[in-house]
Amino acid sequence: MSEIDSVLKETRSFPPPAAFQARARLKSEAEYQALWRESIADPQGFWGRMAREIPWMQPFTQVLDWSNAPFARWFVGGRLNASAVCVDQHLARHGAKRAIVWEGEPGDTRTWTYAQLHAEVCRLANALKERGVKKGDRVAIYMPMVPELAAALLACARIGAAHSVVFGGFSAQSLKDRIEDGGCTAVITADGSWRRGKLLPLKSVVDEALASCKGVHTALVVKRAGCEVAWDARRDVWYHELVARQSATRAPEPMDSEDLLFLLYTSGSTGKPKGIMHTTGGYVLGAALSARYVFDLRDEDVYWCTADVGWVTGHSYVVYGPLANAATIVMYEGAPDAPHRGRFWELVQKHKVTILYTAPTAIRTFMRWGDEHVTKHDLSSLRLLGTVGEPINPAAWMWYRDTIGGGRCPIVDTWWQTETGSIAITPLPGVTATRPGSATRPFFGIDPVVLDKHGAEVPAGSGGLLALRKPWPSMLRGIWGDPERYRQTYWSKFPGYYFPGDGCRKDADGYYWIMGRVDDVIKVSGHRLATMEIESALVSHPDVAESAVVGRPDELSGEAVVAFVTLKPHAVTSDALKETLRAHVAKEIGSLARPAEVRWAAALPKTRSGKIMRRLLRDIAAGRETAQDTSTLEDFSVLATLRAAEDDE
Ligand code: PRX
Repeated sequence: MSEIDSVLKETRSFPPPAAFQARARLKSEAEYQALWRESIADPQGFWGRMAREIPWMQPFTQVLDWSNAPFARWFVGGRLNASAVCVDQHLARHGAKRAIVWEGEPGDTRTWTYAQLHAEVCRLANALKERGVKKGDRVAIYMPMVPELAAALLACARIGAAHSVVFGGFSAQSLKDRIEDGGCTAVITADGSWRRGKLLPLKSVVDEALASCKGVHTALVVKRAGCEVAWDARRDVWYHELVARQSATRAPEPMDSEDLLFLLYTSGSTGKPKGIMHTTGGYVLGAALSARYVFDLRDEDVYWCTADVGWVTGHSYVVYGPLANAATIVMYEGAPDAPHRGRFWELVQKHKVTILYTAPTAIRTFMRWGDEHVTKHDLSSLRLLGTVGEPINPAAWMWYRDTIGGGRCPIVDTWWQTETGSIAITPLPGVTATRPGSATRPFFGIDPVVLDKHGAEVPAGSGGLLALRKPWPSMLRGIWGDPERYRQTYWSKFPGYYFPGDGCRKDADGYYWIMGRVDDVIKVSGHRLATMEIESALVSHPDVAESAVVGRPDELSGEAVVAFVTLKPHAVTSDALKETLRAHVAKEIGSLARPAEVRWAAALPKTRSGKIMRRLLRDIAAGRETAQDTSTLEDFSVLATLRAAEDDE
């Protein structure tokens, strides 16, 4: 019996457009197959060769030491510095090339060339040194999306301090927990930032977090918003004062390949946040190689990943991956609807963005806002689109392709995790025929398998649990301070295999269809249904903007399907529409999946990274009070509104 019953049927297929393919780095199935097969059959040979393409300060003597599994050591004996890979190596050829094109929410802009980025990183590294930050220390970063944020990551890397970026929307308590868990001794922040025209007072959040944190000796403060801030003269120092008077050169610290590069706490839609550990050599190689091949980076590209650097996507695909390839990146400070709902598209037009990488939740929002915000801008510069973060509903995929991509741009639906460090299952845009809703096939070195709960491989077409059979260079090296939790969480379900916690189906053509977290499964009459597939069916109805589906206990069927639905602006709520939607799901994927109940939701509760918090909806659906941790919830008023709607019914 399969672990999850898959009911999504999607047969549309889109081969790479000929014009794209003709110029792509990888153009044929044969090239992909040869490289992927080699990476699986001979990982040492493959990764050894790939790794030699990045600059080492001292060559490695062994590609992988897996003798102490699941604790991997990659590129043993090698020394390198991540900031040198991202900046110094480009100075000779690309010193005058734009590295960062930045746009503030109010419309102010700044551009740094690679030479300017180098100078900024060196000055900041010297400033951190002056404040007593040492190799091996941890530095917390709590910043808005400004160029200094990228410089902060690279400056830490340059002196061998690990960074721990905490997304600028987290509360003082969450920041404090992460600073303490990581044992950070310094914080880099800003006075404030702009979001929908509102001032976000970052420094005062830091003040509150640090009030009871003993170990932090320095808070380095970028002046961004110009707002009033409280000041502790022993601890606080202005970035522009300290950094400006530093020397613009500093030699990068030769780091061991396995030295800690950063900690990143997972957004934790379940349980206590985990400090995911990434080390230098393997991570940088994974980010660099995947960025080059998945985004098919070319010298003239203007690449925009809309993720905040507070998430792993921002680490790997705003900072390390693209900069390691000497790309020109766009960074935007603010909200997509500030000051209007076409801001992203205005930016694409203004900066002639060629590659856009964003999240399904954003795409669904843009769909709901309406095409008119998109079509009044010239998006003809775009040549490639990407998505990441959750399964993308086929309807959203098609809209992305047609309305944003003008039908001309391949879409790379990239599956990966904070833990994988870099993209793991993905199309290669010049090679793979894409299918809406499928992340398609494994990237180099990734050896996936779909298993039932006993660890037996399920037949093609059946849903099951995704596992990875081999270590890969950018994999997490552990959970900070808790090696046992690392072993338990990721390596104990199927001994010897990495368990990401996602449901998945592999079709007869070897394409992978990620079905969401296995915790998000509903068991109706003995059949385990992935909530994502029912949500996709709902979103394919023309009146539906977004939906979240959860189970509630049901005497007859075990669990019953409850669908929370956000309608498009033109649609009107009615009991008749509820019936229509129930019937629509039954028609699309079978009567088993027919929602027992449809509830209207003006908005859905989401984590700050945009993931729907289904555990909260489960409580609402079951009529329970929430005993759950809501610290990552983006907008508390959403919960109150959903409960009120329940009382109205
Ligand atoms: O469930 C998968 C989903 O996001 C999880 C990882 O979340 P996080 O560590 O926050 O990293 C997000 C950015 C890499 C995965 O276990 N996920 C991510 N990308 C996809 C996805 N699910 C389906 N398709 C994707 N492309």
